[in-house]
Amino acid sequence: MNPRKKNSFYKEQYRPQFHFTPEKNWMNDPNGMFYFEGEYHLFYQHNPFGDKWGHMSWGHAVSTDMLHWEHLPIALPEEDGVMIFSGSAVVDWNNSSGFGEGNQPPIVAIYSGRRNFDDRQFQCLAYSNDKGRVWVKYSNNPVLDIESNNFRDPKVFWYKETKKWVMVLALSIERKVQFYGSENLINWDLLSEFGPEGAVEGVWECPDLFQLPVINEEGKKKWVLEVGIGIDSVAGGSGGQYFVGEFDGIMFSPDLNYSDENNIDHIILADRPTHKALEKCNWVDYGKDFYAVVSWSDIPKSDGRRLWLGWMSNWDYAQEVPTAPWRSVMSIPREIRLKKNDQKYFLVQQPVEELKKLRSLILDDSNIDIDEIHSILVSSDLYEMECEIVNPELASLTITFNSTDDEFTSLMIDPQNTKIVFNRENSGIVDFNPTFADQMSACNESLDYSKMKIHVFIDKSSIEIFINDGIIVFTNVIYPTEIQKSIKFSSKGTGIKLSRMSLWKLDSVWKN
Ligand code: FRU
Repeated sequence: MNPRKKNSFYKEQYRPQFHFTPEKNWMNDPNGMFYFEGEYHLFYQHNPFGDKWGHMSWGHAVSTDMLHWEHLPIALPEEDGVMIFSGSAVVDWNNSSGFGEGNQPPIVAIYSGRRNFDDRQFQCLAYSNDKGRVWVKYSNNPVLDIESNNFRDPKVFWYKETKKWVMVLALSIERKVQFYGSENLINWDLLSEFGPEGAVEGVWECPDLFQLPVINEEGKKKWVLEVGIGIDSVAGGSGGQYFVGEFDGIMFSPDLNYSDENNIDHIILADRPTHKALEKCNWVDYGKDFYAVVSWSDIPKSDGRRLWLGWMSNWDYAQEVPTAPWRSVMSIPREIRLKKNDQKYFLVQQPVEELKKLRSLILDDSNIDIDEIHSILVSSDLYEMECEIVNPELASLTITFNSTDDEFTSLMIDPQNTKIVFNRENSGIVDFNPTFADQMSACNESLDYSKMKIHVFIDKSSIEIFINDGIIVFTNVIYPTEIQKSIKFSSKGTGIKLSRMSLWKLDSVWKN
């Protein structure tokens, strides 16, 4: 039986309907994502035996559209006292590893083994010769061991100019990433290191490195190094920072010198005890629930997108969230590119096009005046809203997403202070951890506050907000006690209009 069709799961109160969740038990980081022969593969950090972190193994699912998932058996189980920590997988097109059989390229997973008795972390391989169904651990594991307890999360890609595989991975406690090179995925040589730079309060984890096109500079491409920060990131707890620069096959060189005290980035942290390094960082997301993000490998050239998704949770409270029988959810898949603003390059994230298949239009309107309060009825826990706001007076504007009058999340756009604030203090169940009920803010002086675009996805227990084509994103989980009833726009200014407003109900991907 196709496990997607099991009826007993996916009907629970907080169960996301168009996001990926395991049927039951614990999940954290996405791992080993690759595309091969029409299938997107998603592996994930999984405890098959309980709803808290432990016995880490790679859970596995496949999809033809990144939305409708079929669960597959555990790909890589904990074994012989070694847990399977995060990592990546690549299609070894030329069988450089020699693991291939017949004329199909092997798929090779590169993961961190974590020896349980002493916490030692080393890099290991496993391979599959049947489109990622059956996985064999390499008999000579580990392939890279520097006798460290904080050496993890290898992301591997093919760098064609030097004809080498490149591995980027974290020296977590040292707040560094290292780059290694290999011709066969088995023997690895150290190429260079990067860090500490930018945000260094939390441990560095789950790095990724790739080249992205710049949407407003024809033909231009730049390299982006993304690094997860375990704690004390921009919204509190886990989050992701990125560096834009160049990579030459050996070394990553950031455009900005992040350690230079005079070099203050224009995105600054508001309303929170600040420290210089945090203020200068580029943040992938300003919400609390977008961690360990990693991109898909081997997306065909004909598609050409760089696609990623993140773990929609936060180490501050992930093990306490009020969901059962599963814990944690992945974000919607997103396409990422760069945009040049004020001589700097910023990451922009957009929900993937595929999501449009789930839409049924509820409302499509234009030229709506916002006289103090404008309310729109929704009555659905699965919806998408996109609007364009014209704000000639640059007055502050609040959008609330209500389940009752007292239960809501809100987004405040405050042009005077060039900041945007997301608030989930009254979002429903918040008391399972003291860090959960909170406000988060992004300050950005270069946004055009007179014309804003807001794009929102609500799915039972999450809200993802993309602002101005994804230059600022807030990703958060929420646990409302009742269904979402309305969206309210309120402002004290005059002349504010929604020049366009569309609302769609979204279909569940888990129904029969
Ligand atoms: C990030 C992380 C990784 C590690 C994995 C263990 O969330 O801590 O660094 O490989 O989770 O589950």
